[in-house]
Amino acid sequence: TRILVLNGPNLGRLGSREPDVYGNANLDDLRAMLDTAAGDHATIDLRQTNDEAELIGWLYEATDAAVPVILNPAAFTHYSYALRDAAALVTKAGIPLVEVHISNPHARETFRHTSVISGIATGVIAGFGFDSYRLALDAVLRLTAARP
Ligand code: DQA
Repeated sequence: TRILVLNGPNLGRLGSREPDVYGNANLDDLRAMLDTAAGDHATIDLRQTNDEAELIGWLYEATDAAVPVILNPAAFTHYSYALRDAAALVTKAGIPLVEVHISNPHARETFRHTSVISGIATGVIAGFGFDSYRLALDAVLRLTAARP
């Protein structure tokens, strides 16, 4: 099984961006952690973009190829109806899409309390640092029955 791990704007700066909120590890560390966690159960295809259109294109790719998605929409979470509509194509096709956040947006500024993605996601995991992704991977593997 291939799993797309898609990361939205500013997550390419992980490691140096607000380390008090997001920690000191970067996307390469995240990729390494997920590769280890996936073992031979899945292949991790981790990507990051600051571009809404590119992210939407990747969700079309997931839909067309029936690839499960772990999505950290970053700030798009809070306002991108275009991203929501593209993410809905994935889940409406019966393909799992787990929304993840490193921080717990509900414990932060009010504008972060709203997610326009959650309503169409298979599930949401937030607040556990990079472990949010590991937990999401576990959930996806269970849903796809690659791990009992
Ligand atoms: C985030 C939370 C968002 O509110 C923020 O805009 C991000 C990262 C997280 O992973 O905690 O960029 O999605």
